[in-house]
Amino acid sequence: MTDTGPSTEPAGDPVEALRQRALHALTAARERTSTLTTCVEEPDLTAQHSPLMSPLVWDLAHIGNQEELWLLRAVGGREALRPDIDKVYDAFEHPRAERPSLPLLPPAEARHYVADVRNRVLDILEAAPLQGSPLVDAGFAFGMIAQHEQQHDETMLITHQLRRGPAALTAPPPGSAPADAAALPSEVLVPGGPFTMGTSTEPWALDNERPAHTRDVPSFHIDTVPVSNGAYACFVADGGYDDPRWWAPEGWAHIREHGLAAPLFWRREGTQWLRRRFGVTEPVPPNEPVVHVSWYEADAYARWAGRRLPTEAEWEKAARHDPVTGRSLRYPWGDADPAPEHANLGQRHLQPAPVGSYPEGASRLGVRQLMGDVWEWTASDFLPYPGFAAFPYPEYSEVFFGSAYKVLRGGSFAVDPVACRGTFRNWDLPIRRQIFAGFRTARTAAPESA
Ligand code: AVJ
Ligand code: FE
Repeated sequence: MTDTGPSTEPAGDPVEALRQRALHALTAARERTSTLTTCVEEPDLTAQHSPLMSPLVWDLAHIGNQEELWLLRAVGGREALRPDIDKVYDAFEHPRAERPSLPLLPPAEARHYVADVRNRVLDILEAAPLQGSPLVDAGFAFGMIAQHEQQHDETMLITHQLRRGPAALTAPPPGSAPADAAALPSEVLVPGGPFTMGTSTEPWALDNERPAHTRDVPSFHIDTVPVSNGAYACFVADGGYDDPRWWAPEGWAHIREHGLAAPLFWRREGTQWLRRRFGVTEPVPPNEPVVHVSWYEADAYARWAGRRLPTEAEWEKAARHDPVTGRSLRYPWGDADPAPEHANLGQRHLQPAPVGSYPEGASRLGVRQLMGDVWEWTASDFLPYPGFAAFPYPEYSEVFFGSAYKVLRGGSFAVDPVACRGTFRNWDLPIRRQIFAGFRTARTAAPESA
């Protein structure tokens, strides 16, 4: 089998299967959106819980507005339903901090609006050709909008985590680590040589993941599992936040100015670390991947440990390279769509799983938890691949390219499977800590092991 998209489509009419896939993706996203916007009372929907975030009710109507723009107007060719609100829900017109003062649709109107758009979109989906233009080929626009909604669902989950007050969401904890977790080698050697990065065949891949191209990556070692809370606590205890040797100069200036001395949501009590997680305060579990650290903190930890962050190309090679065939897989485990045994995805849990979990999701080289659990900071700036073309709008990726943003890979427990792939690229500012981000470290291999 070659690198050609989803392998789990039902047999029969392929266009009908695509339609079902799009319908399922849109419906699953809307169920999650509903959960995230009905679990709190109205004042919590319109409040701004952090200047870093929009009010939940802004995300809700913005989800509907993007769907109106792309599926109702662009794909369906229908007349605009609410052109009067386009500007309010344009992320580039208004930064997050000023969104609470906009004339937002109140919760009931926002719910009515998104439902109205969706009903019309389902009619369009039923009759859409799903081929004949780049926007509709393989149902791309529907997949893009389902991914957009899921991305804002993760954003809303971050807002829930920042919100003060009693828990509004609950979920069972992930299982304990598998029996072999303690015996795993600390790192995996990734052999040097070319591999295929990015994709030209994955139907719902976004513009920044394209096109597929060859990268030569010299041999390196990468951590088998993400850095744990216990390991990170050693860095803290060793005075890591008091020693400028470990820090990028801008990172050092940032932690000094803001008095940062541990991951976001951590609090010291006596001799132990506590954390606040979705309205509950609990001891920090030492064997869980660390989360809510900035790129600067990840970078400093790696230097303290005598290592470095992996580059984005190294991360993707560790995740996708099959040393037997030389081919790049869709996911670490192969070409099959994500299933629960592969990874902690889709908000099934409200925390990462213990390090060493998901042996069935390991990459061909034996690296674990590359998908799900925590987004992983990489050393790399967010840059276009050679041959990049903005599609369908430059504000998704292109306007963010440059040295201001660092790339994150792999997805967190809050990422839905539709919005995660071995090629998926996320990005954020290096100071950001509210996102569900952790990291793993790497080191260049000595010449004799190349
Ligand atoms: C890809 C997560 C950085 O949330 O800013 C949502 C996704 N783009 N609406 C973001 C996105 C437009 C984006 N990230
Ligand atoms: Fe958006």
